[in-house]
Amino acid sequence: MAELRSRRSVLAVPGSNPRFVEKARGLDVDAFFLDLEDAVAPLAKADARETVVEALNEGGWGGKIRSVRVNDIASEWCYRDVITVVEGAGDQLDTLVLPKVTAARDVHWLDTLLTQIERARGLPVGRIGIEAQIEDARGLVDVDAIAGASPRVETLVYGPADFMASLNMRSLVVGEQPPGYDVGDAYHYILMRILMAARAHGVQAVDGPYLQIKDVDAFRRSAGRTAALGFDGKWVLHPLQVEAANEVYAPGQEDYDHAELILDAYEHATTVDRRGAVMLGDEMLDEASRKMALVVAGKGRAAGM
Ligand code: GLV
Ligand code: MG
Repeated sequence: MAELRSRRSVLAVPGSNPRFVEKARGLDVDAFFLDLEDAVAPLAKADARETVVEALNEGGWGGKIRSVRVNDIASEWCYRDVITVVEGAGDQLDTLVLPKVTAARDVHWLDTLLTQIERARGLPVGRIGIEAQIEDARGLVDVDAIAGASPRVETLVYGPADFMASLNMRSLVVGEQPPGYDVGDAYHYILMRILMAARAHGVQAVDGPYLQIKDVDAFRRSAGRTAALGFDGKWVLHPLQVEAANEVYAPGQEDYDHAELILDAYEHATTVDRRGAVMLGDEMLDEASRKMALVVAGKGRAAGM
């Protein structure tokens, strides 16, 4: 990955609610997106665009990754979302979140439109990234092509609520196992498929929301599973979930220190001693150990450890 921007916690903020937007500024999240899609009622969409442009231009977001989720490309709102937001605040925007991506052509369309607006407005071409939400079977089947559709793609984002609905899954609790399925994790295939595509194309993989916002233990459990697989972070919907996400998706201090130790020992072994394998205590290290340590150290450094 060329640039590992930490995305442990990605805050969803309804773009139609200036009070929530204001509150979001003070939260210790790695990233946020101002939503124009499913958290905004159809009749409020036009006003929400203006609220979002104003909020970005006002600034005060610190080092957070700044995003806007536009409506999906099959909707009547999408093109105007993109044009209004990027013309109005393109220099204050890091990425656009594109929901319900079903094929690479969705990303191509957004890439082309972004390039046109950037040229017209004298913005650097290609700086604004794309975060593609994978939210149904069609998107998952094409997830490799979607991940590689444009150099703008920075993350693949799992959309559990829409995904569960699109599969006709018999459950009403987003992120929890469907009742009656007791032979494993019903989401394992989906999550792994997204993660594989993300890693194959050098982009990040982000888990979606957990909707029982007051149940922080359940959030930790849900986040802990995707963190263990290798996901980079998770959407958060409430201040209570922020600290949990920042902790769960960063390595523990002990693991981080150990990873740095492995890197130092291996560096010394290969350069000074010219050996390809070395012992660190009882542990044998080789080039593959170095790569594993780099992952943990990289996530830790990106998280400011
Ligand atoms: C998020 O957009 C989801 O559908 O879970
Ligand atoms: Mg969704």
